[in-house]
Amino acid sequence: MKAKAIARANIALAKYWGKSDDALNLPAVPSVSLTLDPLITETTVEFDPSLESDVFELDGERARPSELGRVSALLDEVRAAAGVEAHAHVASVNRFPTAAGLASSASGFAALAGAASRAAGLDESKDTISARARRASASAARSIYGGIVELPAGEPGDDALCARPVAGADHWDLRVIVAITATGRKPIGSRAAMGESRRSSPYYAGWVDHAKASAPQITAALMDRDFERLAPLVEQSFFAMHAVGMAGVPSVLYWQPGSVAAIRAVQALRTDGLEVCATMDAGPHVKAICTAAHAGQVRAALADTPGVLDTLEAQIGPGLEVSP
Ligand code: DP6
Repeated sequence: MKAKAIARANIALAKYWGKSDDALNLPAVPSVSLTLDPLITETTVEFDPSLESDVFELDGERARPSELGRVSALLDEVRAAAGVEAHAHVASVNRFPTAAGLASSASGFAALAGAASRAAGLDESKDTISARARRASASAARSIYGGIVELPAGEPGDDALCARPVAGADHWDLRVIVAITATGRKPIGSRAAMGESRRSSPYYAGWVDHAKASAPQITAALMDRDFERLAPLVEQSFFAMHAVGMAGVPSVLYWQPGSVAAIRAVQALRTDGLEVCATMDAGPHVKAICTAAHAGQVRAALADTPGVLDTLEAQIGPGLEVSP
């Protein structure tokens, strides 16, 4: 009744922002991501009949009630599928900063979905595990697979929606340089923020139309290893997503001065001929996507940018790994 899983964060090049079905947590737009190594979450799940309720420890500390609630909801689904009644002890460790816009919920719920399924004795397909991870956090559906991964938009009611791998980790040696521009927790989580966008942003409908057209173009540029086509599409996706949030009421503004400086640094490097472009998730950090040949220069330039506190480098990695 015990299993361990490792899953990695992912970075969306075509962003998911907005839902078509809140109850089933279905995305309103398609998204495309790279699974990132070594941004790893390691999660152990043990179903234990002596427990009176689920216990969730995150990085060695008891998690907050809201975090425990989302974990228990996923465990409830696994218990129902496996006919298990016992509560579970869940211990999760992030090998990178939590809740800083580094997609720790994606790697976290992917690892949880994998470990819980195995610990309950289920022998489920990756698609089933991806769909369950999606209900917990849609970006987590993508972390089940390695390499380049798509999550299609969901039609309301389509509860089987799962991510699908489009190319392996060795398809293209891209690197991601994360420029950390703030410490501490971000002001508002992605779920609440995208809900605000849908309710109150005048740009939401335009965003959905744009994202549906842009995601397949991003996949095609990745498949062709065509950086010149890829870069403007990736930047437009994140700028459009953030613009939708900024135009909502209340406005969602994740950017810090260091975020703007890092975006400008990336764009200046591209003007100088480097293969690099920027993206940002629901947080202040800037992620520079670049080819391996240019990673050293990009990292050095970002480390030198005012307002950038630290940098991390990641590469494309594999999907979910479950043991024993
Ligand atoms: C900006 O997957 O965290 O990172 O499904 O509500 O849990 P929920 O949202 P979440 O949103 C991620 C948004 C994003 C873009 C992306 O990863 O595609």
